[in-house]
Amino acid sequence: MLEDALHVPVMLQEVLDFLRLAPGQIIVDATLGTGGHSVEILKRITPKGRLIGIDRDENSLAICRQRLSQFKDSTEFVHANFVDLDQVLANLGIEKIDGIVFDLGISSYQLQDAQRGFSFQEEGPLDMRLDKSSYISAYDLVNNLNENEISAMLWNFGGERWHNRIAHLLVQERRNEPIATTKQLANLVMRAIPHRYRRSYYRIHPATRTFQAVRIAVNRELEILESAIRKAVDILRKQARICVISFHSLEDRAIKHTFRALKADGLIDIITAKPLTPDPSEIEVNPSSRSSKFRVAERI
Ligand SMILES: C[S@@+](CC[C@H](N)C(=O)[O-])C[C@H]1O[C@@H](n2cnc3c(N)ncnc32)[C@H](O)[C@@H]1O
Repeated sequence: MLEDALHVPVMLQEVLDFLRLAPGQIIVDATLGTGGHSVEILKRITPKGRLIGIDRDENSLAICRQRLSQFKDSTEFVHANFVDLDQVLANLGIEKIDGIVFDLGISSYQLQDAQRGFSFQEEGPLDMRLDKSSYISAYDLVNNLNENEISAMLWNFGGERWHNRIAHLLVQERRNEPIATTKQLANLVMRAIPHRYRRSYYRIHPATRTFQAVRIAVNRELEILESAIRKAVDILRKQARICVISFHSLEDRAIKHTFRALKADGLIDIITAKPLTPDPSEIEVNPSSRSSKFRVAERI
């Protein structure tokens, strides 16, 4: 059962190679997920190495405590937002690290759990919180933001072309009853898009961009990226590396700009002038890796 829930790690070999792992190192996995990157990192840094695994999602941490139990003397699992990285490491008494990986977004483990509300293909409550202790859910945003705010959210975080139409229909519909489930939202998006575009414009499901936008807004995913990357670079030992895997252009752009600014400040060298993408062979085995982009920088 545990095996079925596991997320297939994306660009794993690239992460392992670019981190230049060696026994005894201290490595941070800022987005532990179900531990796909971490398990392979641990094999290369133990004995004596230490892995700090951070996730906002308690369920993912619970899976990793079980899955990585053979490394329990070499791991620290921390329930936190990676934007608080400095605090997390200070609490552990760690001043410098030998590498860090961010694998952004959500895992297939979270996507497949209908009760989390991330998937438009499964009926579930409109939740989408990575951290279930956080206050605002997708339900709150979708049912309380005004039409302009919803429209802006869909455009800014999803690049959704029909943002105005979707926002308009949504506000009309919720007068009758709240938009409470994933299917309700997905069906509404479908109806808001002009008939002739429902198939041709979207190679992906028409609700994909809306769901991405709402998830990013609920978890404030873009706002924290720059700050988290700056904190990570601050704590890297000289010549240690930061690896970031992102899944959509908004994230990749934020990473690119942050790396450029840090380079201009003389803090890093950029190792990947252009983002790396997965090999066709990886995409064939794991189609959800297809939109990933991988950037690496080195502390100087
Ligand atoms: C794509 S998955 C990582 C998968 C992992 N590399 C693996 O191979 O199993 C992203 C994970 O990061 C977590 N996450 C997303 N944003 C976060 C944040 N700001 N702070 C901490 N964890 C976060 C999610 O809960 C999710 O478990």
